[in-house]
Amino acid sequence: MKLSRPVSVAPVWRMLLLAIWCCCCLLPSTVTGKTAFDTSKPEFIRTCRFTDPQFVECSTDSVQGLFDKLVTGIEGLEHVGTIDPMKISKIRILQGDGPVSVNASLSKVVVTGFASTKVIRNVVSSKDYGWETHIRLPKMRLEGSYHMQGRILVIPLNGHGKCWFEPSGMDIIMRTTTSLYERDGHVFYNVTATKVDYTISGLRLHMGNLFEGVKVLEDSTNQYLNDNWRPVSEALKPIIAKTIEDILLAIMQNIFHQLPADYFVADLPRQSG
Ligand SMILES: *[C@@H]1O[C@H](CO)[C@@H](O)[C@H](O)[C@H]1NC(C)=O
Ligand SMILES: *[C@@H]1O[C@H](CO)[C@@H](O)[C@H](O)[C@H]1NC(C)=O
Repeated sequence: MKLSRPVSVAPVWRMLLLAIWCCCCLLPSTVTGKTAFDTSKPEFIRTCRFTDPQFVECSTDSVQGLFDKLVTGIEGLEHVGTIDPMKISKIRILQGDGPVSVNASLSKVVVTGFASTKVIRNVVSSKDYGWETHIRLPKMRLEGSYHMQGRILVIPLNGHGKCWFEPSGMDIIMRTTTSLYERDGHVFYNVTATKVDYTISGLRLHMGNLFEGVKVLEDSTNQYLNDNWRPVSEALKPIIAKTIEDILLAIMQNIFHQLPADYFVADLPRQSG
């Protein structure tokens, strides 16, 4: 994953002025033409059937297999690199109102921890072919360079420098909508949207060079943010969820325009019957 392109521009959270531009190292949706996977199914994909009484167990296993393989990268899969570490060239955050009011950017972001992703449950709807995926991430670390102006709760934050964030015990529920289409004798998922909800059981963070090097203020602010990680992360939740959604959507669109859906679920409907 190199390459930088804006993935989305998403305004409006409730009636607040919220917009996030997430520029990450991913190409948007469409991948046309033949892919490396047209003629043979990669061995790591476990194929399931709706008609199997153990479908949910099977499909959970199947998605876990995909995650495990994505960690090191899947040969032949274009525009999707390794996910641990995952590199994102830029994330922009702009929110004008509410408990968080910030104009910030994170660049040269490196995210580690996805290697230990545990897929708890994956359900595919046999009615609309959407998925509900529950995953657990014991520990994640995000580091990069930040530029920030604004405030979180009552804390003014102004500065630029290095930062890191370490959420732990992350439980994520992802609801993804898809439509099906056919190409080269295969059924594919067109991933159209994803909604993310999550909880965490801890957060440690550090923002260096806050207040342009006024060390006393920097130390006390970092201390405050860590001591109050729960309300801080609650306040940031809509921004973080939206950022995760944008990143995941781009990755999933890339993957599923290349890997046929029928490799995962053999009895998805086809127009030809
Ligand atoms: C946000 O910050 C950037 C860089 O400091 C600046 O160019 C931009 O005008 C700011 N946007 C708003 C809405 O304040
Ligand atoms: C996928 O869905 C989007 C949005 O509905 C649509 O514009 C696009 O044409 C679809 N792509 C394919 C290959 O079906």
